[in-house]
Amino acid sequence: MKKTIICTAAAFAFAFTCAVAGVSVAANQGPAEMVLGTKKPVHFPHAAHQKHQKCADCHHTKGADGKQGPYVAGQEKKCDECHNKDFANAELNSFKNVGHKLCKECHKKNKVSTSCNVCHK
Ligand code: HEC
Ligand code: HEC
Ligand code: HEC
Ligand code: HEC
Repeated sequence: MKKTIICTAAAFAFAFTCAVAGVSVAANQGPAEMVLGTKKPVHFPHAAHQKHQKCADCHHTKGADGKQGPYVAGQEKKCDECHNKDFANAELNSFKNVGHKLCKECHKKNKVSTSCNVCHK
């Protein structure tokens, strides 16, 4: 009984110290490096993008009205869970379509090359 109390107190103190120091339990950042797709695989350095881009630049949710909802931490999903052949807007109904739209538009804006082999190594 006594032991349990000590452990609980220690665990509490630890959690408290962490909270004060601002060290929260690390959120899921996803993989650092990814290979997207299979037929024409895409090399995607996820961690490198996280340094300069916001999660919300690429991740979003779906609102109750079916429109694009805001980014919610912890709710990052695979793009094709929504952007598949059943998606209402035909311009956004595949991973290829949204991948090209998202990746290429930002690369253009930032003057990063959009040659095929930058992504399709
Ligand atoms: C800025 C990154 C980027 C560039 C540049 C790019 N792509 Fe892609 N591409 C992607 C992403 C992301 C996907 C989605 C992954 C998937 O569908 O497998 C994709 C998917 C594809 C697919 C579908 C692959 C499949 O498995 O169905 C084809 C085909 C393709 N791209 C061709 C091209 C060609 C041709 C070019 C050059 C004119 C190009 N891409 C340039 C990122 C890029
Ligand atoms: C430049 C675009 C971009 C940025 C910025 C970005 N991500 Fe991602 N993230 C992606 C793409 C693309 C995938 C792969 C989705 C897929 O496989 O369909 C992904 C996948 C993930 C996954 C795995 C999801 C799953 O179910 O497989 C997690 C978790 C994640 N990201 C978290 C984050 C967090 C947290 C941040 C911000 C710190 C972030 N991402 C920033 C583009 C981005
Ligand atoms: C939970 C469902 C869902 C997921 C998961 C999702 N999207 Fe979307 N996305 C939407 C909806 C809904 C819209 C709004 C479509 C419209 O207005 O026609 C949208 C719009 C877009 C657009 C067009 C608008 C814009 O911002 O340029 C792009 C590009 C896009 N998504 C890319 C992605 C990528 C890349 C991923 C994976 C990292 C992803 N989406 C994951 C639901 C989703
Ligand atoms: C919001 C902006 C943004 C989005 C979205 C984005 N990128 Fe990038 N990406 C950049 C910038 C800026 C750089 C160059 C500077 C750097 O490395 O951070 C870059 C660099 C890269 C590089 C390295 C290029 C080189 O010359 O070595 C690859 C590969 C890449 N991106 C793939 C992707 C793919 C694939 C996607 C979509 C899944 C994507 N990016 C989406 C902004 C973006």
